[in-house]
Amino acid sequence: MFKSVLLVGATGGLGQYVAQELLNNRESFSRVGFYHNTARPTDESKAALLKTLQDGGIEIIAADGYANPNPYKGFECVMIFLGNHGLHLQPTIIDAAIEAGVRHFYPSEYGADVTAGQNWTQRYYKYKVITREHLEQRGKEVPDLGWTLFLLGRLTEWAAIRHFGFDNKNASARIYGTSSGRQSLINVEDTAQYLVATLQDAFASGENAHRRTYRISGSTVTYGEIFDILQRVTGRKYEVTYLHVEDALVEEAEAKARGDIDAELAASHKLIQGREGTLLPQPWNNDRFPHLHPKGVEESLRSAFGAEKFRKFLGLS
Ligand SMILES: NC(=O)c1ccc[n+]([C@@H]2O[C@H](COP(=O)([O-])OP(=O)(O)OC[C@H]3O[C@@H](n4cnc5c(N)ncnc54)[C@H](OP(=O)(O)O)[C@@H]3O)[C@@H](O)[C@H]2O)c1
Repeated sequence: MFKSVLLVGATGGLGQYVAQELLNNRESFSRVGFYHNTARPTDESKAALLKTLQDGGIEIIAADGYANPNPYKGFECVMIFLGNHGLHLQPTIIDAAIEAGVRHFYPSEYGADVTAGQNWTQRYYKYKVITREHLEQRGKEVPDLGWTLFLLGRLTEWAAIRHFGFDNKNASARIYGTSSGRQSLINVEDTAQYLVATLQDAFASGENAHRRTYRISGSTVTYGEIFDILQRVTGRKYEVTYLHVEDALVEEAEAKARGDIDAELAASHKLIQGREGTLLPQPWNNDRFPHLHPKGVEESLRSAFGAEKFRKFLGLS
């Protein structure tokens, strides 16, 4: 159980929801910090987020970059929420925070089980794998170093975006795989609730109990089911083209050759997806938190497609 926690890189998609959930539960923690990396740009919406958090009793810890140990001092746990382009910074953060006395990390996972199937060697997970290896390595020198791997499959709201082959404006999609390909989905608000609940979950006993993994998701659906749901939610039938899974390798190689990292990552993810790499292996640990009940895929997509804040993200405007 952690009383003090610092969020790092939490200005983005998932991190903001976790920050909000910590705000909702502020009284359960002695100290909640939000790392503000001043080396990065701050636009109006980031400034507004920082103000809201500060007004709610969250400490804004401003620092230039991530390498100085001082900002991490006094926190029991550091949760990292950096996105794809910042994932490589995790070893720097971990080393600086260990030096500051931090002994528990949530690395920026929150996705597929990277040990499942062929995930470990896929481009998309390169820096998640390096981070896990770094933690293992540092854990040999620092025996009380612990971490929590929070695995969920995919976030429902992210499952139907252009990056992954969906064109919601024109109700069409190009998918590597088949209509029976499965993935595990949970919506972002439920994820934030489970994440905060894990901070309050007592550690099991045993030698390695401080190095734990949660597998928590909402439900497992096929592409066919997702497109049926999208038809009910949007009132339009999607025109879906299913492509041969391994051809995603060609898309990935072409993107790499022209130096387009985003396209390379997207193609890598399509390959993972086509091979059912985001199907979250059972058993899941949802029953550790019986008071939480994740919403279904249809309810989550209905809510996302109806929300103004998701319109651009879903490619609707
Ligand atoms: N399974 C799923 O479906 C799913 C979906 C979404 C996310 N996730 C996971 O959740 C985690 C967070 O993802 P996200 O989508 O929320 O992240 P994100 O919005 O892409 O990025 C989070 C933050 O990272 C920082 N950042 C980005 N590029 C950076 C760079 N080059 N250098 C330093 N900082 C940089 C930015 O913060 P500043 O500009 O404030 O520094 C950004 O707000 C990741 O591990 C991701 O894989 C999983």
